[in-house]
Amino acid sequence: VVISLKGFLMAKEIHPQLKCNEFSLDDVLIPPASKPPEFDPSVVDTTARLTKKITLKFPIIGSPMDTVTGPEMAIFLAEMGGIAVIPQAKLNIRQTHQQSVESQAQQIAIVRRERAGFVLEPKVLGPKATVLDVIKGEQEFGYSSYPVTKDGTTKTSIIGIITGADVQDVDASEYNLPVRKVMTPRAKLVYAKREETLDINDIRAANRIIRARKLDTLPILDNEDRVVALVTRSDIKKDDKFPLATKDQNKQLQVLAAVESRPQLAIPRIEAIANSGIAGIVIDSRNIYGGYKEIAAYAKKQNPDLDVIVGNIVHPNVLRVVLEEAGGLIDAFRVGIGTGEVCTTSEDLGVGRAMGSALNDLNKAFNEEINKNDRYGYIGFIPDGGIKFPRHFFISAILIKNFAGVMMGSYLAGFDQSASPKIQREPGVNVKSVRGMGSAGAIEDRFGPGSSRYGQERIDPSKRYPEGIQKDIPAIGDGHPHLERFRSGVQTAMQSVGAKNIEELYQIAVVNTVSKAASKGTL
Ligand code: IMP
Repeated sequence: VVISLKGFLMAKEIHPQLKCNEFSLDDVLIPPASKPPEFDPSVVDTTARLTKKITLKFPIIGSPMDTVTGPEMAIFLAEMGGIAVIPQAKLNIRQTHQQSVESQAQQIAIVRRERAGFVLEPKVLGPKATVLDVIKGEQEFGYSSYPVTKDGTTKTSIIGIITGADVQDVDASEYNLPVRKVMTPRAKLVYAKREETLDINDIRAANRIIRARKLDTLPILDNEDRVVALVTRSDIKKDDKFPLATKDQNKQLQVLAAVESRPQLAIPRIEAIANSGIAGIVIDSRNIYGGYKEIAAYAKKQNPDLDVIVGNIVHPNVLRVVLEEAGGLIDAFRVGIGTGEVCTTSEDLGVGRAMGSALNDLNKAFNEEINKNDRYGYIGFIPDGGIKFPRHFFISAILIKNFAGVMMGSYLAGFDQSASPKIQREPGVNVKSVRGMGSAGAIEDRFGPGSSRYGQERIDPSKRYPEGIQKDIPAIGDGHPHLERFRSGVQTAMQSVGAKNIEELYQIAVVNTVSKAASKGTL
């Protein structure tokens, strides 16, 4: 908004609350370091803390938007060092007729299964099982390694292990051979003791044995030689490929789930997913109101390890009130209203706030006053809406000390990994669709006739003013090279100001608000 000085003074007389010093991230330019940096951009560490418990090595957070985040996006982002929020409902819920809670739980399960970690209660075979059983199992379950026990259950001791490698050279005419003829017998078995691995949750110890002994599968045994878990090589290969991945103690990928902001809908959902392996919930709302406290308290009661993220906020006073009311229950805040790419809240409703000012005000109030004496400990702040260039990440991390990572929707929507199907609009032109969760289509799908929530809520989609749009964007292929470039852009920017990590960046960078021409680098 440009306002002349005369206009400003006149307006100020009319309305004493008029503020004219708001700035967005694109109004800022960061001067480079005054001495040459002595390190390479590639050594710059982009790690941020999402919450007290969750650390993200490349903190990109997938927004809970149905065209953006499904299990594929969640796996992709967690592997890249970020995390994603699985939305309440899957895209096209009307066509699939799935209950939204069930479909969300299924999506969470897919992400959590991507890395096996310690496989508890593994499938085992008995001595009479045949090579054919192993081959069939591979087709059916996708794996071919089984401990063989005395009676074919985990209640009796192990007598050997059979793997895909053992059966691959067996001639088809011998598929009825019992597995004990081809397995590695107990006497030659490499295994690990449960006290040294599983009981102390040390999967690294297990992985060390797998590497050193070149194994496919490592059984974990108790003192009576019974199998209590398996660890497999497939995870190690993936771990080597994705060194920044966001994993829990069991080395499984981390994921978050969105829940509604109304307790009557959120509570049954939390009941269903609280113990599904999610790291936390996002109470998904355009701003904080009403039932958030009840929802957060319920989530922590169901599972005290769950982090709770709320939003969206742009004003320090909301932050203060929420922390006073529910301090111990809230772990991070989404920041930003009206700045999203497919959001029309600012344009159509006239509500919103420039991201730069929002972050700056929250930062000052939180550090100078609200969190005095470290009253609340670490609370994360997530800039959310409109983030699409490395500069948005970089400048946000300078403006807010507890930078928890950026939340993204539209930027990710064109990747192969997004939840939206690729559509060929004309020969050679592939697009994907992205829509705001407040757009007419999304509201219709979530609340209209045919949705699982129809009638449960008082929303008549046709009478609600949409706060978002749907649009086509180019389908730009695999997301890996795009995010790798994005991270490299952030690293280069950080190196230019002499910051080796996010903490240093906040400490040393100088922020200049500049004219539009200056921010665009034009003369
Ligand atoms: P983007 O990365 O610019 O697409 O912004 C993503 C963010 O926009 C989300 O995380 C939400 O905070 C916000 N958002 C999503 N859908 C809507 C909508 O329909 N109206 C307003 N804001 C939305």
